[in-house]
Amino acid sequence: MAVLVRPACGPDLPYFYEICLKTGDAGKDASGLFYDPFLLGQYYSAPYFFYDQRLCFVAEAGGIPQGYILAAQETRAFNLWMEQVWLPPLRRRYPEPYPGERIQSPAEGQAVSLLHRSLLPADPPPRWWSSYPAHLHIDLLPAIQGQGVGKALMHSLFTALERRGCPGVHLGVGKANTGAIAFYGKRGFSVLQEQEQVLILGKTLPK
Ligand SMILES: CC(C)(COP(=O)(O)OP(=O)(O)OC[C@H]1O[C@@H](n2cnc3c(N)ncnc32)[C@H](O)[C@@H]1OP(=O)(O)O)[C@@H](O)C(=O)NCCC(=O)NCCS
Repeated sequence: MAVLVRPACGPDLPYFYEICLKTGDAGKDASGLFYDPFLLGQYYSAPYFFYDQRLCFVAEAGGIPQGYILAAQETRAFNLWMEQVWLPPLRRRYPEPYPGERIQSPAEGQAVSLLHRSLLPADPPPRWWSSYPAHLHIDLLPAIQGQGVGKALMHSLFTALERRGCPGVHLGVGKANTGAIAFYGKRGFSVLQEQEQVLILGKTLPK
């Protein structure tokens, strides 16, 4: 099936939520883990489109978006926007304590807690932050994986970031997601920081 990589547009938004859910369990389908199929996308995909749609690209196959790459150029400014604009209505919509009958799995409980965690920590940021100010998320449905589409999406995003003079990009990946870690390694990412279950990887962009 031919795959087209292109800038994202408004009608892609429902697919952002779907793709996020269907790749939300360490790269595998998380549909069975969530009572609310939109919860993951509320945090990990939709806000990027509203924040800066020019850093969102989709991979379309058979007329349907089946993958995306989403980024924010200045993570600190993005986090501030999340705190001021995006998260307040979500925190009201998904209150804590969250009704037990709406928590289908520990993953769903953790996702609700994430919405309430401040993105403006009191501690100073780690030293690597200024060299890798952008961050990204990339997810492809299984039908278009392993065909060079991830590579093509990365190329589109990196070109856009380089044009803006962005020095580097980082991302978080679950340690269990060994396929994605291998993919990022091939794309020139290296480990910036190791957390309990997550690796923070970074890549310098050419000037
Ligand atoms: C991880 C992901 C983005 C990779 O995209 P992709 O289109 O499948 O990867 P590509 O076909 O572009 O592969 C690019 C390179 O990475 C390597 N690679 C990709 N997936 C790999 C895997 N599972 N194991 C080992 N290497 C892998 C390829 O061999 C290729 O190497 P090359 O440059 O030498 O040819 C995609 O598989 C995906 O979305 N997975 C599910 C969601 C996910 O885990 N997202 C990341 C969350 S942090």
